Amino acid sequence: MQVIHTIRQLREVIQAFKQVGKKIAFVPTMGNLHEGHLQLVSMAQTKAEIVVCSIFVNPLQFGEGEDFDKYPKTLKDDTRQLQQLGCDIVFAPSVEEMYPGSSTAGKAGATQSQIVVPGISDTLEGASRPGHFTGVATVVGKLFNMVQPDLAVFGEKDYQQLLVIKRFVNELCFPVGILSYPIVREENGLAMSSRNGYLSSEQKQQASALYRTLQAMAQKLQSGSRNYQQLEQETVEQLQKSGFKPDYIQIRNTDLSKPTLDSKQLVILAAAWLGKTRLIDNLQLSL
Ligand code: PAJ
Repeated sequence: MQVIHTIRQLREVIQAFKQVGKKIAFVPTMGNLHEGHLQLVSMAQTKAEIVVCSIFVNPLQFGEGEDFDKYPKTLKDDTRQLQQLGCDIVFAPSVEEMYPGSSTAGKAGATQSQIVVPGISDTLEGASRPGHFTGVATVVGKLFNMVQPDLAVFGEKDYQQLLVIKRFVNELCFPVGILSYPIVREENGLAMSSRNGYLSSEQKQQASALYRTLQAMAQKLQSGSRNYQQLEQETVEQLQKSGFKPDYIQIRNTDLSKPTLDSKQLVILAAAWLGKTRLIDNLQLSL
């Protein structure tokens, strides 16, 4: 496995693989890898001969006062896990490599050109974290241009992110197939996340209530309940009783539009604070 830190070297290696007709799959991450990430890499391995995994904590997608500075950086351990899995290339650029001039100009001066996906980026996560999806789309677009993958794999854990990426890839004609992988969970149901490391062991147990609450909500929808607003409100209250500070709990169509009484394919999306940690989760269901 090669660990590459510069765009120039990455391009050379990718070009060599392309010249001999190798198909390339890509898994972008921010590192601190867990089983959720590793499953994406395994899936990528079944789809292409060469798998590239990027590890880059992208300052552009973090808002003021968010956890950019304390986001866990565990490159050594991450590369060991990827090596064991048989990943071919790890791309781990510095912030300066990705955003030249950012060390002097600061984050705002890091890049003038950005990929903005209005509409779908403005609701839910985007409403709570303004600019977040522009940061995500911009870095993913840049990474696609560097890696030039045939396909890329994303997790359904970040449901809205997946839709934002599919949207710009389609509308801006990036020649990359987008595949998704279901949420990987801990035994107690908690969706795996690098941010779970911020939780104490007691909080980790407590955090499993988020998924259980979504399941209970899905159950009510399955048994015919259609008062979406009331269901959302009840769930907010239940989560508050379990010690969460809910940010949003929303029932949506799978394209994130508001559901009607005839909607058949739904997704429940949730974001909630447990202490100082912000957790997100979602549950897709068919009626
Ligand atoms: P990160 O949070 O590291 O996640 C990288 C990929 O792993 C994303 O596609 C995410 O949805 C997926 N993932 C995370 N936890 C998962 C879980 N429990 N089950 C399944 N998939 C999971 O998402 C990002 O990084 C960044 O926004 C990125 C796309 C890399 C752009 O900076």
